[in-house]
Amino acid sequence: MRDAKWGIALSNPNCFQKKIKILDTTLRDGEQTPGVSLTPENKLRIAQRLDELGVDIIEAGFAAVSEGEMKSVKLIAESGLKAEICSCSRGTKGDIDAVAKSGADSIHLVIPTSDIHIDWKLKKTREQVLKITEECVRHAKNYGLIVELSAEDASRSDRSYLKKVFTTGIEAGADRVVACDTVGVLTPEKSYEFYQDLVSSLTVPVSVHCHNDFGMAVANSISALRAGCSEVHCTINGLGERAGNASLEEIVVSLKALYNVDTAIKTELLYSTSQLVSRLTGVPVQPNKAIVGENAFTHESGIHTQGLLENPITYEPYDPSMVGLSRRIAPGKHSGSHAIKAAVEAMGLQPTDDQLKEIWLRVKSVGDKGKTVSDADLLAIAEAVTGVGKPKAIQLQEVTVVSGNNVTPTASVKLKLKDKEVRGAAVGVGPVDAAINAVKSAVLEVEPIVLEQYHVKSITGGTDAMVEVVVRMRKGNKTATATGVREDIVMASMDAVIGGMNVLTALNGNAEEKK
Ligand code: KIV
Ligand code: ZN
Repeated sequence: MRDAKWGIALSNPNCFQKKIKILDTTLRDGEQTPGVSLTPENKLRIAQRLDELGVDIIEAGFAAVSEGEMKSVKLIAESGLKAEICSCSRGTKGDIDAVAKSGADSIHLVIPTSDIHIDWKLKKTREQVLKITEECVRHAKNYGLIVELSAEDASRSDRSYLKKVFTTGIEAGADRVVACDTVGVLTPEKSYEFYQDLVSSLTVPVSVHCHNDFGMAVANSISALRAGCSEVHCTINGLGERAGNASLEEIVVSLKALYNVDTAIKTELLYSTSQLVSRLTGVPVQPNKAIVGENAFTHESGIHTQGLLENPITYEPYDPSMVGLSRRIAPGKHSGSHAIKAAVEAMGLQPTDDQLKEIWLRVKSVGDKGKTVSDADLLAIAEAVTGVGKPKAIQLQEVTVVSGNNVTPTASVKLKLKDKEVRGAAVGVGPVDAAINAVKSAVLEVEPIVLEQYHVKSITGGTDAMVEVVVRMRKGNKTATATGVREDIVMASMDAVIGGMNVLTALNGNAEEKK
């Protein structure tokens, strides 16, 4: 079968189970990402978003680990979400009691099954582990919990022993099982064989849980689903221990676009969910990340943009709106004149052929110096060449920032906004945050513009270093990049943010005029 519009030869969707459940473990395995620790309130915000996204099961945390974890699982379990709320647990009665106390619907009950784990970590015998499995499953079922029995390091376990652990648990009442590729050693071929064997040998639904140590977590998860697994464990942005877990967005969009298999996920919320998780965990999304990376639908080279301007299917495998992103044509040294013309015209300028050539040459020359050309740079170059720079819609007139020891960072700004003088004041976590919040508060009514990305680079060394602030801003479905370079980080941030806002105003103003 071939997707009629996008020309993709679809793989056979018939080998999949009718319903594929998504278990999101961003709040448990994802939180095990080195350096990540979420407050109960932020965990709740993410859980609410996962619920809106359509996740079937939310693994909310590890109730026995700490007071904060217990509070998080409780908060989420009591918040009235549609999803099944699950807590992780080791194979001990104390851990299971904690899950029952948390109010979770289900327990992800983890029993190590490889000899490596049984000998070195548990220091027990295989027989003892079988007994623990039976007792723990019965204990959890006595609380009325849905039990997902999990074999840790299943992919390095003796197969017949692994099945024995699962059948012991199933006889004791386990509702479903999950085999974990804990250190990511499966390949797509091995994964298919491994999970197919489990699915055909066991009497309950089998789930897949893959880690990304060799970059194969998503491919291995999809192979397992093709082999008959009915649930997949995954995380937003592929967060997780070491190299992470299988990424939810990559699995869901691959299933949809390459196999014509649907899940309950509202794919158009994937990008904003990825951004929320990135903001709250403090783990940036790499620009070239599949599906939700900043560059996933950004095109620079002349050959590509020329094709795209004719028909986007030339260089895109699906429409960016499917994941809540929009297409962006980035100016740079690889840009073709078609792309530069389209971008400059979208900003409301009408260069002659000679002027266009000059703009194009200047963009290339900036790129040749090893610099990124932001949208704000392109607007400045185009205005200089055409000599028809419109007055900037937003101009900074004053900014005052107060910060220091025992003081809440506070900022006030005075802006000229389309001939009107407006003022804004705000607090923030630091002086830059306060100043940006003050600008946002001043322009909010007129310009609901969102700051999507903010990066700082130090260009030179020392305390008087030049800093470069790079931002990406969004208004509706339009985005713009801008930079600010100064010795003062607050002023560099103001230049970048206001520069980005001006590009968006130009883009939107031009779109309005065309209506
Ligand atoms: O990868 C793994 O083995 C795990 C277990 C704790 C279930 O995440
Ligand atoms: Zn894991």
